[in-house]
Amino acid sequence: MSQASLHLVKEGTKIRNWKNSPKGIIRQISPLTPQMQRTEGQELLRVEDLSLSYQTTGGMARALENVNLTLSKKEFVAIVGESGAGKSTLALAIIGLLPRNAKPDGQIYLRGNNLLKLNDKGWENVRGTEIGMIFQEPLTSLNPIEKVGDQLSETLSQNSNGKKVKAYDYSPGGSSSSMTISDRITMLLPRREGKFLPEVHEWLRKVRIPDPESVAQRYPFQLSGGMMQRVMIAMALSQRPSLLLADEPTTALDVTTQAQILKLMKNLIDEQETAIILVTHDLGVAVQVADRIIVMYAGEIMEDGSTENIFTNALHPYTKALLKCYPKSAKSKERLETIPGSIPDLRQEIKGCKFADRCAYVSNVCRADKIKLVEVEEGHFARCTLFY
Ligand SMILES: Nc1ncnc2c1ncn2[C@@H]1O[C@H](COP(=O)(O)OP(=O)(O)O)[C@@H](O)[C@H]1O
Ligand code: SF4
Ligand SMILES: [Mg+2]
Repeated sequence: MSQASLHLVKEGTKIRNWKNSPKGIIRQISPLTPQMQRTEGQELLRVEDLSLSYQTTGGMARALENVNLTLSKKEFVAIVGESGAGKSTLALAIIGLLPRNAKPDGQIYLRGNNLLKLNDKGWENVRGTEIGMIFQEPLTSLNPIEKVGDQLSETLSQNSNGKKVKAYDYSPGGSSSSMTISDRITMLLPRREGKFLPEVHEWLRKVRIPDPESVAQRYPFQLSGGMMQRVMIAMALSQRPSLLLADEPTTALDVTTQAQILKLMKNLIDEQETAIILVTHDLGVAVQVADRIIVMYAGEIMEDGSTENIFTNALHPYTKALLKCYPKSAKSKERLETIPGSIPDLRQEIKGCKFADRCAYVSNVCRADKIKLVEVEEGHFARCTLFY
């Protein structure tokens, strides 16, 4: 924290311009971990002062700046924000899959172990078993030339209990006289047909895949996007990770499938006590499933609070603008707004509020110095001078 910025806010400072404050004072300035006190004893993940720049031909792009967050066991948090906010970068940093040109600085603790200090071997023990990830495009994560049942078997065989499972028995594959085009294509692919372990079918059933015995024998391209995403969820959850990262897992799906998948994820997570970070550009999706919402903009956390607080009492002008961009109900006929302007160039250093160029409430003080994330009401944080 720069000393220069400290003078802007002092703990207990009277809040100006904010009529709904419960006590009219800022309860806590949170330079490090905003939710620390709420998650004491239950803490699973702690991201401390995480900054990250990408080396680009045009200079260093600051994708994350002093990100601080804690996550409790079993908590369901959504990270929302427009494209370019740094959401995927944060998720990739947590699971250690950053590209080579990424330069992270800070700490990420999982149960007290600093993930940024892990070597390749250390990551092997964490990835999949402790932290799982579901990506937006399942086809890029599933092996296109391996049957989904085999792939699921593979993850089951790497189960965290260390028990190696013999996942399938080989048996000669039969041919059918009424083959479809995709059946014919599969003839060209490696064949590992046979009897899959009951666990594979059980997991496909858990993610509500009808006729799991037949689906297990299919290749990814023979499934719909929704089905593939279900397989990905089954693969990620079958390893019973403590933390599941889901980066835009339903964005490519139609609205109905989206809702089904989200509900399914929530149920399974409740069952096996997994914490989840859902990354989405869609506040509507976040509101449907998350317990808590973190709003990011240009690499910074702008607001952090319970889903109810964010939905009914959004504080930050950016969150308010995002809320206006999404319909209150599926049947709503209201005209939706868009936020004028775009995220600033991350290669340029911005002195004050990064949202200033797009904010209707901007004043000189907003551009004077770094803006701190402050706790405005219990468990509800905002980074905006309106709450100083
Ligand atoms: N590999 C990369 N190299 C350079 N810049 C990157 C790279 N990946 C992401 N960025 C930049 O980092 C910023 C944050 O990106 P990202 O984390 O993907 O945002 P989001 O997921 O919120 O859309 C963007 O400006 C993006 O262009
Ligand atoms: S700090 Fe100023 S510019 Fe930034 S969101 Fe708040 S009012 Fe708007
Ligand atoms: Mg992204």
